[in-house]
This record gives sequence, C-alpha cells and structure tokens, in this order.
Amino acid sequence: MSYLWLRALHVIFVMSWFAGLVYIFRLFVYHVENRDKPDATTMLITMERRLYRAICWPGFVGSALFGVWMLVLVPGHLSQGWFHVKATALIGLIGYHFYCGHIRRRMAAGEYPLTSKQCRMLNEVPTVLMMIIVIFVVVKPF
Ligand code: HEM
Repeated sequence: MSYLWLRALHVIFVMSWFAGLVYIFRLFVYHVENRDKPDATTMLITMERRLYRAICWPGFVGSALFGVWMLVLVPGHLSQGWFHVKATALIGLIGYHFYCGHIRRRMAAGEYPLTSKQCRMLNEVPTVLMMIIVIFVVVKPF
C-alpha cells in the first residue's frame, strides 16, 4: 500500500479513536451524577461498554497499525525531534485509553472511584494531548 494511503487510513482511525476518548469521560460524568437512578445507570453502562469496545479499541488498533506501518516504510521518522514529542504524548494517550477501560469496569461493577468534577477535568486530557500531537506531526518544528 502506498505511503499516502497509509497516512489517510491512519488519520481516519485516529479520528475514530478520539471520538471515543473525548466522549467516554462525559458519559462517566452523567453516570456519577445519576448514580441513584438505576434506569439511567443501566443505560450508561451499556453506552460506555459499546463506546469503549466498538469505537475506542478499533480506533486505537487501526491508528497504531497504520502508524507503525509508516514507520516501517520510513524509519527515519524515529530519529526526528517531532516524533520523540509525539511518542511521549502517545505514551500518555495510551495510558489514558487503558485508564478509561479501568474506570469503565469499576463503574459497571457499581463502584464510583471518581467525583463528577474529577471526571470533567480528566475529560480534557485527550484534547490537550491531541493538540500537542497534531502540532508536532504537521508543523514538525524540529
Ligand atoms: C498509535 C501510534 C501512532 C503512531 C505509531 C503514529 C505514527 C505516525 C507516522 C509515522 C506518521 C507519518 C508522518 C509523516 O509522514 O510526516 C503519522 C502521521 C500522522 N499522525 Fe500519527 N501515529 C500514531 C498516533 C497518532 C495519534 C494519536 C494522532 C492524533 C492525536 C496522530 C495524528 C497524526 C496525523 C494528523 C498525521 C498526518 C500528518 C500529515 O499528514 O501531515 N497519530 N503518524
């Protein structure tokens, strides 16, 4: 497959991954705030599970697959400064992805490890990381 096709597929999967990552903590906010309403929590548990499994996971796997494929074709990216910044932000993003899964499972089990304010704050994390990654990958300041 040509490099440009890989780059297009990479961006498509990144967008899908982010659709999940920027929304799941918003669902956790509703979940915490409606913890005393069984009808709402039952529906939110289903929404969180489907969002995480059917959107976040395929988005993550596809982004990584096509991203690594590009690195195999052009290994020179690995020694460039912009890629080191991107890789650092990616470690944070992948950690956030697994943390979402951890919180999802605990909330599905009826535990509430975070307040709604903490969920609102954590919801901003992927946006900040996305801004860093896109600026470094597109502008390539160094
Ligand atoms: C999962 C691991 C990832 C790997 C291994 C990876 C790797 C790469 C590589 C090698 C390129 C090609 C750069 C170029 O040709 O100049 C690229 C492009 C790109 N990446 Fe990633 N990436 C990953 C995740 C992400 C994430 C999470 C984002 C967004 C937050 C992202 C956003 C982009 C964008 C927007 C481009 C296209 C830049 C352009 O067309 O100018 N990537 N990625």
